[in-house]
Amino acid sequence: MSDSVRIIEMGPRDGLQNEKTLVKPADRIAFVRALVAAGLRTVEVGAFVSPKAIPQMVGSDEVMRGVAQLPAEFHVLVPNVKGYEAARAAGAKVVSVFAAASEGFSRANINCSIAESLERFKPVVAHARSDGIKVRGYVSCVLGCPYDGEVKPQAVVDVAKSLWDLGCYEISLGDTIGVGTPLKAREMLRAVAGDVPVARLAMHFHDTYGQALANLYAGMEEGVRVIDAAAGGLGGCPFAPGATGNVATEDVVYMLEGMGIATGIEMEKLLAATNEISRLIGRPPVSRVVNALNAKKKRANRE
Ligand code: HMG
Ligand code: MG
Repeated sequence: MSDSVRIIEMGPRDGLQNEKTLVKPADRIAFVRALVAAGLRTVEVGAFVSPKAIPQMVGSDEVMRGVAQLPAEFHVLVPNVKGYEAARAAGAKVVSVFAAASEGFSRANINCSIAESLERFKPVVAHARSDGIKVRGYVSCVLGCPYDGEVKPQAVVDVAKSLWDLGCYEISLGDTIGVGTPLKAREMLRAVAGDVPVARLAMHFHDTYGQALANLYAGMEEGVRVIDAAAGGLGGCPFAPGATGNVATEDVVYMLEGMGIATGIEMEKLLAATNEISRLIGRPPVSRVVNALNAKKKRANRE
């Protein structure tokens, strides 16, 4: 497992979309700047979705423009052609469409069935192709759904394959409510890898039940090398009640570096970015690594 792993930073999007405190675009730009300075090379910075659904992401166009000159690749969510056009106008080079493996979540999140969502993505992908914009695809609820309960691997395979066949360059598999355990994660990833090349899969695991690192490790054993994570473990989805944030970027970096896999991320700078955004939203970080390092610093300052 000594080859490289690509981390896609989710903090400014998945991280902030569920926070009660709205973070203004200027502060989101500063957050992205700090993340890039820490060494993150791919960052999801916003969403062009209904402002009624997710007021936290209003101003994503301003954020896009504010970070355009930074040396990183920026992603944004788009649910339909309207969102796509707004993203393109703001200079997006990569957009992400998002489907679900369960009908209940699809309906709650984007107000349509899985099949309807895939139809909606077709023109998005077609426009993107002619505009030279890359499209990433998400599948939510790959290990369980807050509305429908158990989700079978085949349901994930079907949606992942549809997104792949549509033309998405990478498929990110979301354990949206963080209920998965390693053997289930492995079984699901193995099933999807039967239809989508494993090199084009990403793991997007929320850490609600504290299983995300173990699940990521199981996925790495299957050969998956792309990990979505959020600084400090920020995040959640307003349409996934009870779900907490993505696996913390710091926790992932600590695990990978401990395995001898260089991430190119400077922990000190990442910690500073997390502590600042946590101060702004008025909520301490949940990441174990962040808390351990902050406590260590405090002790060192006292000595
Ligand atoms: P709808 O109500 O069915 O859509 O919502 P509609 O087409 O009937 O439009 C309703 C209104 O929304 C209209 O405005 C549209 O113009 C507007 P009105 O006439 O009422 O003033 N509208 C838009 N505005 C801005 N940007 C747009 C847009 N589209 C329509 N793109 C819709 C359907 C998909 C729009 C809505 O349900 C929505 O925006 N949902 C987004 C939900 C969301 O962002 N969820 C969080 C992200 S997903 C996630 O977190 C999971 C993930 O992390 C992976 C994982 O963890 O599993 C990715
Ligand atoms: Mg998510």
